[in-house]
Amino acid sequence: MSDSIGKDFPDWETLYKNQRVETMPWYNENLDSDLQEELDKRRISADEGKKFLDLGTGPATQAIMLSKRGFTVVGSDLSEAAINRARTKYANEPNVNFIVDDILNTRFKDGEFDYIFDRGCFHVLSPSDRIKYINKIQQILKKQNGMLFLKCFSDKEPRQEGPYKFSQDEIRALFGKPFKIHSIEETVYQGTLDPLPKALFVVMTNK
Ligand SMILES: C[S@@+](CC[C@H](N)C(=O)[O-])C[C@H]1O[C@@H](n2cnc3c(N)ncnc32)[C@H](O)[C@@H]1O
Repeated sequence: MSDSIGKDFPDWETLYKNQRVETMPWYNENLDSDLQEELDKRRISADEGKKFLDLGTGPATQAIMLSKRGFTVVGSDLSEAAINRARTKYANEPNVNFIVDDILNTRFKDGEFDYIFDRGCFHVLSPSDRIKYINKIQQILKKQNGMLFLKCFSDKEPRQEGPYKFSQDEIRALFGKPFKIHSIEETVYQGTLDPLPKALFVVMTNK
């Protein structure tokens, strides 16, 4: 098992084996509205035949909604239980594949993806794994214009528990050199918690 699981988090495999995904705090059956708006704003469409990675796909809702927009999608997760569930539930969905993969030791090819969506994976990694994560993302994303959409908790979120909460400055310090950051928005993380946790939505391209 990787040491990537934040200390406040359970073992992901045990979690996905024992809990219904619909009850998980991050469960959102719709496409994340910040991603949806960004795709619309940038006129990013599947017509171009582009390949999307939904990194840390978990319940796989984001991967499915992206595939319904016509993208060729890979949903990856550390947890075999999460991937097995997604493969079974969405067996008849075209354009989507589910693969067990630890981003920190990824087996994806260099430059394999045009777009990566990380909705809640980066913020659960141990701080010591962050640079490795960034290097791996740079590696598997297309060099020119490969785009990373990152959603993580914001330091404006008052709850003590949960994943690490990033300030905009921390995101700039971590991602600003390897990536060109286009925008960092203060937003919320849609899921089953009330009120919805405060989050950052970051759009950046590979340098
Ligand atoms: C907060 S959940 C978000 C799930 C999903 N992205 C969503 O929005 O519904 C974080 C996910 O990241 C996965 N994960 C954690 N560490 C990972 C790693 N090193 N590589 C790939 N996935 C990882 C977990 O198994 C979990 O499914």
